[in-house]
Amino acid sequence: MNKYSAILVTGGCGFIGCNFIRYLFEQTGYRGKVVNVDALTYAGNPLSLADLTERFPERYTFIRADIRDRDAMAGVIDCHDIDSICHFAAESHVDRSIVKPDDFVTTNIMGTFTLLELARQHAGSIRRFHHVSTDEVFGSLGDSGYFTEDTPYRPNSPYSASKAGSDHLVRAYHTTYGLPVTISNCSNNYGPYQFPEKLIPLMILNALENKPLPVYGEGRNVRDWLYVEDHCRAVWDIFRNGIDGRTYAIGGDCEQRNIDLVQRLCVMLDDLVGSPAGKSSYADNIVFVKDRPGHDHRYAIDAARIRAELGWKPRESLGSGLRKTIRWYLENRAWTDHVRSGEYQNWIAEHYG
Ligand code: NAD
Ligand code: DAU
Repeated sequence: MNKYSAILVTGGCGFIGCNFIRYLFEQTGYRGKVVNVDALTYAGNPLSLADLTERFPERYTFIRADIRDRDAMAGVIDCHDIDSICHFAAESHVDRSIVKPDDFVTTNIMGTFTLLELARQHAGSIRRFHHVSTDEVFGSLGDSGYFTEDTPYRPNSPYSASKAGSDHLVRAYHTTYGLPVTISNCSNNYGPYQFPEKLIPLMILNALENKPLPVYGEGRNVRDWLYVEDHCRAVWDIFRNGIDGRTYAIGGDCEQRNIDLVQRLCVMLDDLVGSPAGKSSYADNIVFVKDRPGHDHRYAIDAARIRAELGWKPRESLGSGLRKTIRWYLENRAWTDHVRSGEYQNWIAEHYG
């Protein structure tokens, strides 16, 4: 039984959003409509979902719009009888937020505010507002301990501060106006369709091009890696069965120091495609570079709540998830070439003006 029949997904041309929409169509019993709204920033790539327009013409719609544009978003909600919102759209890359925070503040905070206001105005019809957020709002851990839903907020980068601001607004709209919100704070995702500015796809594609593999500082920072499909399943579980007003922490149970992760990727690539010309391993290309300012030391999630309440747990180990990811990047060179060359931005200009 579907609770919802017209889901607005924001940021569906980005990494997690496109995996989520694919997951909905390909792996769940959802039979309703999905309206994907995305502004197509540098990180949004409609090619990631191009086949869905042909496979599900009655059920899948893509609209290029900016979540900060209240009139455009109101039009989408009204024209498509939207009954639920799954909100992924954001500026998502920490390094970019350090260089130029402007869009992080306007999209992540004001864009979320715009959607909340519209949901409030459509209180009779919007029955779920799920906000996808990050564990980075909790700041940084030392060598032990875990983030939970009760960890105090202590964001350290403009990105995480803007996500923290959006989380607070979402929670406030539940407490003040009774909006049926849920929030998830998850750890580092990886998998197919991830833009190669993030660590794992950047390392895979640089390695395949025999380029340097830049590791920040000494590579001792730890991340808790979550395979994107596991994350999508968690979001769908919360979307359908989460309790209004509640936050859920989602993690992959896969902690790894950056340097160990990059070395592991190199060994896997050596096995899968053979080491690069004149070198014994891709690991020979690792270079230690200047550290990220304010670099959070460690993230790790205790996902006990979502396990106990919704029966969710990650299915992929880091080994199995990385193998799938490397294979995907090897087998989808048309997508990676488009993204690496910036060619898809020309395609966007041609198709969407
Ligand atoms: P992404 O950068 O790959 O995709 C973001 C998408 O949002 C892009 O398609 C972009 O075009 C769109 N977008 C940006 N600004 C917009 C605007 N003003 N209006 C409409 N669309 C806009 O990001 P992602 O990695 O897929 O992350 C999705 C969500 O998950 C974000 O909210 C992010 O904070 C959160 N998150 C990501 C991770 C991760 O590891 N990638 C982990 C935890 C949480
Ligand atoms: O924890 C969730 C967050 O994970 C999300 O909210 C963010 O949207 C997502 O970008 C990610 O943030 P990180 O900063 O952890 O991810 P990134 O892939 O940029 O970096 C992962 C780690 O690798 C981090 O410690 C920095 C390091 N790094 C990154 C890059 C791009 C390197 O050492 N070299 C690099 O070239």
